Amino acid sequence: MAATSPSSSIDSAFYKAADDFFREHAGLALTYDDVTLATLYSEVLPRETNLETELHPKLRLRIPIISADMDTVTEAPMAIAMALNGGLGLIHCNLPEREQLSQVSRVKNNVHGLIQEPIKVSPDQFIGDVLTLVEQKNYGFRTFPVVDENDTLLGLLPGHTVRPRYAATKVVAAMTPRAQVQTIQEKELGNNPIARADQFFSEHIGIHKLLVVDSADRLRGLFTISDIERIMQERHSQLKPARDDQFRLLCGAAVTATRNSTGELDRDRILAHIGALVERGVDVVAVSTAHGFSKGVGDTVRLIHEDFPELPIIAGNVTSGEGVSYLSKCGANIIKVGQGPGSICTTRVVAGVGIPQLTALYVCAKAAEKEGVRILADGGITKSGDIVKALTLAHGVICGGLLAGCPEAPGQLMEINGKLYKQYRGMGSLAAMQAGSAARYGHSSKDSVRKVAAEGVEALKEVNPPLDIVLTQLAGGIQSGMGYLGAPNLVGLREKARYIQVSPAGQRESAPHDIVEVKTGN
Ligand code: XMP
Repeated sequence: MAATSPSSSIDSAFYKAADDFFREHAGLALTYDDVTLATLYSEVLPRETNLETELHPKLRLRIPIISADMDTVTEAPMAIAMALNGGLGLIHCNLPEREQLSQVSRVKNNVHGLIQEPIKVSPDQFIGDVLTLVEQKNYGFRTFPVVDENDTLLGLLPGHTVRPRYAATKVVAAMTPRAQVQTIQEKELGNNPIARADQFFSEHIGIHKLLVVDSADRLRGLFTISDIERIMQERHSQLKPARDDQFRLLCGAAVTATRNSTGELDRDRILAHIGALVERGVDVVAVSTAHGFSKGVGDTVRLIHEDFPELPIIAGNVTSGEGVSYLSKCGANIIKVGQGPGSICTTRVVAGVGIPQLTALYVCAKAAEKEGVRILADGGITKSGDIVKALTLAHGVICGGLLAGCPEAPGQLMEINGKLYKQYRGMGSLAAMQAGSAARYGHSSKDSVRKVAAEGVEALKEVNPPLDIVLTQLAGGIQSGMGYLGAPNLVGLREKARYIQVSPAGQRESAPHDIVEVKTGN
């Protein structure tokens, strides 16, 4: 965020830097459509702009977009698609803890270059045992390397033998013996293992798994043709995946401030669940509630931070500088800003509280700068222009409604009068609270059965195209905005932004008007 407006030009009298603009409007709460950004001299082409954002030294995204931790937005398919396109998905917590863990595992294990710890079987097991393993763990594959107790490769159990009719047969009798299994020595992989594996699969028609062994013939890893093909494809796609340092997709998970029967924070349960998430490779946890500037949220953040000091923590939601300072002092690294802007929110209607988003972002950005933490603009984003405005103050945005109609969001399609829809509901709606999200709104699940005041609605969204198309359009819009401001990256965008308030007539002028629209821009 730029400090004050430079020079005394006519432009600077009208188009103000953040500090000048928001302080001049201190008595008025503004949101995205109330304000527009002034264009500036530019040598930057939109396609050359860089959308990377660092939310934490261990959490870098290629695009500054996060899918909301809502039960009609982010489960594993959405989180996978978000990370494949450079963003991040926060798996919601309105589901049993065990189920959330397995969703995180699905994201973290989605595409591997080299699978370093492939699932193996032993020669003395029965195929029936292997079938049970596949079912229990929900594996999407049935081909397994066979090893002895020292990990020495003995063979490969082909997927077509892992069937109930062979349940009583031992693995050793069904496996392809070692001499016929294609392998590659670890040291032959060189410094581009993916290219080497790709070459291998081109040269060996019909082989879909390549086992990696060391000089003592111990199993060291496994490549699959489908992973390699997806990785090669990704290299040509516009948006690059967001990965961790082990080349796994990034994944976040929401956690609640679970309480025990006496109303105290259930420390053991919270810590055990976070430990299990960390074990599965989660990159960030989000303590998401409607009122983040509260003792329960602060205590939960502190608890997590003390036991897992290396784990990035998102916490919220707040709309005040004091709220940002409080959560950052408790140990949060990234603070969610937004109370009531969401498309399905009724917090402002029901509780009479909440601050329009741009003003809240400015106030929180000032406190975040002081505390050395990041902020995310959460809710109320309906178009890419809103994201550009949000990113002049925040390091990323969280979207619910914009993504809820994508095929990757949970839920079935519904056809109404020939149009296709998907369900989208607030986490504070009665239905979501009854399903478990009541704690997020400071109620117990028993309260929600008694119909406490809901702070969200149940809605439908018209179906969207697949997420990669939606994100490519949003990213393109952000890049256009950066081009107009001459900002090569998001730091530049924050520094260069100049704002002016828009009149109601100006707002009408800002969208298509006085035409019969035959084709939308999407
Ligand atoms: P959008 O506008 O992207 O907003 O659909 C998503 C964000 O809204 C918040 N959220 C709620 N806020 N009542 C609220 O007041 C609710 O029931 C509710 N459910 C979600 C949340 O921050 C989300 O990321």
